[in-house]
Amino acid sequence: MDDLVFLGIESSCDDTAAAVVTAGRQILSSVVAGQGNLHADFGGVVPEIAARAHAEKLDLCVEEALTKAGLTLARLDGVAVTAGPGLIGGVMAGVMLAKGIAAGTGLPLVGVNHLAGHALTPQLTDGIGFPYVMLLVSGGHCQFLRVEGSDYFTRLGGTIDDAPGEAFDKLARLLGLPQPGGPSVEAEAAQGDAARFDLPRPLLDRPGFDMSFSGLKTAALRQRDALVAAQGGLYERDRADLCAGFQAAVSDLLAGKAARVLAAHPAPVLAVAGGVAANRTIRDALETVAQQAGVRFVAPPLALCTDNAAMIAWAGIQRFRAGQQDDLSLIARPRWPL
Ligand code: KG4
Ligand code: ZN
Repeated sequence: MDDLVFLGIESSCDDTAAAVVTAGRQILSSVVAGQGNLHADFGGVVPEIAARAHAEKLDLCVEEALTKAGLTLARLDGVAVTAGPGLIGGVMAGVMLAKGIAAGTGLPLVGVNHLAGHALTPQLTDGIGFPYVMLLVSGGHCQFLRVEGSDYFTRLGGTIDDAPGEAFDKLARLLGLPQPGGPSVEAEAAQGDAARFDLPRPLLDRPGFDMSFSGLKTAALRQRDALVAAQGGLYERDRADLCAGFQAAVSDLLAGKAARVLAAHPAPVLAVAGGVAANRTIRDALETVAQQAGVRFVAPPLALCTDNAAMIAWAGIQRFRAGQQDDLSLIARPRWPL
């Protein structure tokens, strides 16, 4: 079974991606085409523009993934595609292409939940077994999962408002820093004093595993407005200190809740994935929490933490091995909780 080879297709947000992966955890190719500058003038991902760009680029991404893997469609054992959750136009573009390939070649078709793709990535990259606790933290998601099997996820808690990546992006926009905001805020924060501004840690001391980031974002923006009102603008120092304070607060919130989760739901591994897991301060804080709890910390390489199709191919292989596949009636789902 280790020689099964799957094509994966991902188009649920603003990355168009295709990859070829084996059941033996080999990533033969992983192609990701971003759409960064297409949305630059709009301050966020525009669904119609994203869908059109996916439709234009998906074919090429698949071709490139096959060429890089040195395989033709005839050599594959199946096609896995993100069937949701996500921006519906993009998901539909991917699902249509996957159905076309399946219909044209007779290959099995497997629809994959994008979140399951993220959640199973530590298995692909590090070969860890079940169960593990997972923090999925990106521009669109923020949740703690207990992963018991490839189709068995328990959601332990999550954000009740914004995702942290979204908050990083918003803060960066309002401070005049480039998008995506996470890396810009992190770079500014490196020069800043995290203690200068008193920013809240919402819900941190409350029981349970839910998190909130919108109050923190609003508090940071109020500090910015107060500075602008008092001095007529922001100094370089102010920007750096605000970014450092904000990043420290997000880090405290995620690490604090992660510690609570591990205490209540012991597991041998704490894993992270999602774009925000690229942040050094946050990653280090989570690693410290894992060490203190005596559990292994697994953080996949950045290219596999953010949106990609290798995770979709991998999750598709797991569904297929469990005897599950879809037919041509597979539909794209904008919402699809795990
Ligand atoms: O997982 P991802 O590529 O896409 C989804 O949201 O699904 O995550 C992108 C998010 C963006 O909001 C971006 O600002 C954030 O991850 N991000 C970061 C960092 N790098 C990316 N946030 C904080 N620190 C970073 N270094
Ligand atoms: Zn994602």
